[in-house]
Amino acid sequence: MRLYSLLAAAKINLYLEIIGSRPDGFHELVMVMQSVDLCDRITVRSIGSEEIRLRCDQPDLPTDERNLAQQAAQLMVQKYPEGMARWGGAEITLEKRIPVGAGLAGGSADAAATLSGLNLLWELGLTQGELQVLGAELGSDVPFAIVGGCAIATGRGERLDSLVSLDGLYAVLAKYQNLSVSTPWAYQTYREAFGNTYLNDAARIEARRHQVHAGEMVAAISHHDGPAMAQFLHNDLEKVVLPAYPQVAELKQRMAAAGGLGTLMSGSGPTLFTLTTSQAEAETIATQVRSQITDPNLGLWITRFASTGIRLNPER
Ligand code: C5P
Repeated sequence: MRLYSLLAAAKINLYLEIIGSRPDGFHELVMVMQSVDLCDRITVRSIGSEEIRLRCDQPDLPTDERNLAQQAAQLMVQKYPEGMARWGGAEITLEKRIPVGAGLAGGSADAAATLSGLNLLWELGLTQGELQVLGAELGSDVPFAIVGGCAIATGRGERLDSLVSLDGLYAVLAKYQNLSVSTPWAYQTYREAFGNTYLNDAARIEARRHQVHAGEMVAAISHHDGPAMAQFLHNDLEKVVLPAYPQVAELKQRMAAAGGLGTLMSGSGPTLFTLTTSQAEAETIATQVRSQITDPNLGLWITRFASTGIRLNPER
């Protein structure tokens, strides 16, 4: 039986700045993205019939076209019909570990793994760059989910410049499991509140991108200086998400007070993370937050910075 098992990493945003709007209705962004070792497990397996079957261990998640992994598989069938004709269809199994609707790009990670898995299963020989171009058709975060590590992402988020991945840093992730934030809502609310601050000419947008690229956050990462980097953690979307979800704002205060290098919301939230330089410190912070917040819906994860997005699962 032909089968590939892949691990697909979650991401956190160490920096997210909204620069302006784009003609396609999306936002011009400059972000610093970092993979962490909280991974979904994706298995792709050849089946005799010429169809795509998606299964998921979380029964409340759709497995039809609403699931980005299904969209990724359909895109591969459409672009490379010779793959299915030669090798047959595929059964794709998602084992979810990354929380959903969390700002951790779990859906993008599954889509990225589906593209990579079918590329292997159907022996298409696509390069990472070619997979990234396909990924950009599915969502702004999919190209990063393919490469992983640490990168500056600009444009919609799909244009990437790799940075050195900081080794030996940990992130305590915290999310109320019963709470998710709609990404379109977060961006639309930001536009309504701050649209008057948007840069709209191409030269000024380029200049701002360049400033961030040449700025303190990227310099600290290049110098492998986690504590310095943590001083420049920033996410514009906190300005709309935290006031709308006071429970998350309060959790952020508790996380920050528990220690670590710095605390921030990832993406459009509501996941928060605190960075630390050791697993022991991450565990102390998680224990302290857990002791203060008795809500059983609070999920806490201790993760380590990871240098890859999609990789073969060594356990299979
Ligand atoms: O690209 P993706 O499907 O992940 O984006 C989800 C939503 O987030 C978009 O529909 C849009 O509302 C918002 N978004 C945006 N600008 C971006 C990325 C996302 O406005 N650069």
